[in-house]
Amino acid sequence: MKTLILTGSPRKKGHIAELVQYLAERLDTEVELLSLDHRTDIKPCRDCRYCFSHAACCIQDPMQEIYKKLDEADRIVFAAPVYFYNIPGSMKAVLDRLQVYWAAIIRGDRPSVHKKGGMILVGGAPESPRQFEGTIQTLQYMLDDLGAECVDIVTMGNSDKEGLSEREDVKRKLEQLAEKLNAE
Ligand SMILES: Cc1cc2nc3c(=O)[nH]c(=O)nc-3n(C[C@H](O)[C@H](O)[C@H](O)COP(=O)(O)O)c2cc1C
Repeated sequence: MKTLILTGSPRKKGHIAELVQYLAERLDTEVELLSLDHRTDIKPCRDCRYCFSHAACCIQDPMQEIYKKLDEADRIVFAAPVYFYNIPGSMKAVLDRLQVYWAAIIRGDRPSVHKKGGMILVGGAPESPRQFEGTIQTLQYMLDDLGAECVDIVTMGNSDKEGLSEREDVKRKLEQLAEKLNAE
């Protein structure tokens, strides 16, 4: 079994990196981390609509490798900091290429849900009820398109002031996420 963790933070030693590491150490599956930050080698979706009639994207670039990884993964986790109530723009540019999975609705060959997914989100501002709303909506939609049931969402606000070492509650939530992803 394989878990693919797609990360969107430019800070290699930032909070997302730390939370992802904590999760990865608790997963029984094979784990692959894939940074989607500033992937200048991956072109943006141009809404050419090739995928409305073909189960593929016609842009031949390294995204083709990522499609393969997504198709082969049994578990998919998105890990991102909140930037203006959503995922960072550089990550969004790559994830717009998941239109090929959404287009399965139009093609009429939508796969059944058979994967498990999760999210890890951090925000610098003090925790507030709507802090992660936009981010969750975007990523939930993408997990749905990928045929992955979102088993848990771990959020950590107030990251401008505190890190994982001060957040036992977030550690417990990451442990629970790992348990759910490890379950058959
Ligand atoms: C451009 C930008 C926009 C941000 N917007 C938000 C926001 O809307 N809400 C929030 O809580 N934090 C916001 N932050 C703070 C980040 O979410 C926070 O610093 C986070 O810890 C970064 O994650 P990292 O340490 O993994 O890079 C923003 C940061 C940047 C750089």
